[in-house]
Amino acid sequence: MNILLLGADGQIGWELRRSLAPLGTLKACGRDEADLEDQDALRTLVRSYRPDVIVNAAAHTGVDKAEVEPDKTSRVNAQAVGLLAGEAKQLDSWLVHYSTDYVYDGKKDGAYLETDKTNPLSVYGKTKLQGEEAIRNSDCKHLIFRTSWVYAARGNNFVKTMLRLASEREELRVVSDQIGAPTSAELVADVTSLCVQSILQERGSVPNVEGLYHLAAVGEASWFDLAKYAIMEVQKLGQSIKIRPENIHPIQTSEYPLPAVRPANSVLNTEKLCSTFNLHMPHWKVHVDRLIRELQS
Ligand SMILES: NC(=O)c1ccc[n+]([C@@H]2O[C@H](COP(=O)([O-])OP(=O)(O)OC[C@H]3O[C@@H](n4cnc5c(N)ncnc54)[C@H](OP(=O)(O)O)[C@@H]3O)[C@@H](O)[C@H]2O)c1
Repeated sequence: MNILLLGADGQIGWELRRSLAPLGTLKACGRDEADLEDQDALRTLVRSYRPDVIVNAAAHTGVDKAEVEPDKTSRVNAQAVGLLAGEAKQLDSWLVHYSTDYVYDGKKDGAYLETDKTNPLSVYGKTKLQGEEAIRNSDCKHLIFRTSWVYAARGNNFVKTMLRLASEREELRVVSDQIGAPTSAELVADVTSLCVQSILQERGSVPNVEGLYHLAAVGEASWFDLAKYAIMEVQKLGQSIKIRPENIHPIQTSEYPLPAVRPANSVLNTEKLCSTFNLHMPHWKVHVDRLIRELQS
């Protein structure tokens, strides 16, 4: 079983190196080995390796930078994904791909279902949706996981930034009117591996699980809730940090303007994923606790 992993040095990609390894012969490529902007090289790589499964964790994830780099963002998040989907179709391989809560406008009251209307507000969200559509249009066998608020011990992310600022500053102001489910790269990678194992076991039979799934931890939090929770947990472990919890203040999105508009509600309903693959999603605090202990050691 040949598995080709792209974006292997990112938050999710790094965890996939671990979780996919027991499933087959894994070729894990970072940007140096597989640049999604180099279409010819990408095509050559896929055709020479002939993977049974392509897992694409590479993306232009700089949400604000994407606003001023729409062409580059489109090449990586949409056009390269279309190429991978076309190649997967030719080889009769599976394509596993990640998308985002940013395909929604966040105006829904309640958790989003896979069947809800998309309406991305940013270049990043639009190009990620175009990538999804390219996969569906190609008719290749696929799993698309829309996930949200990803963090990991490796890479830059909100949780790590908050912990750093908490040790440098006496006051923090954090947005409290955007909600979502903080989701660890570790959880995304573990679930991906279980789902890949499941689809490979169906080899030869008609694939009936392909499609789009929400993949996120259980529960919801605002960025403010997440920052406060993480900082207080660090304090409980006896680590000395500068900030006092009462000096973490909630603010409105309008008080912290950024180039890309974010959805106010990013909560994803994961019932379809859990029932199809017989899985249980943990609460978001479970993996935040793990991260804090991991960073401490
Ligand atoms: N992070 C989130 O909160 C979040 C939320 C929802 C969905 N997602 C989706 O989850 C997937 C993985 O995200 P992540 O959090 O692991 O992001 P990440 O840590 O930014 O990893 C993305 C990886 O893609 C690589 N990359 C960028 N442009 C590339 C190119 N032209 N060719 C090859 N590689 C390229 C990056 O390399 P460099 O480091 O060299 O740029 C990086 O290693 C993406 O599809 C993302 O859209 C993420």
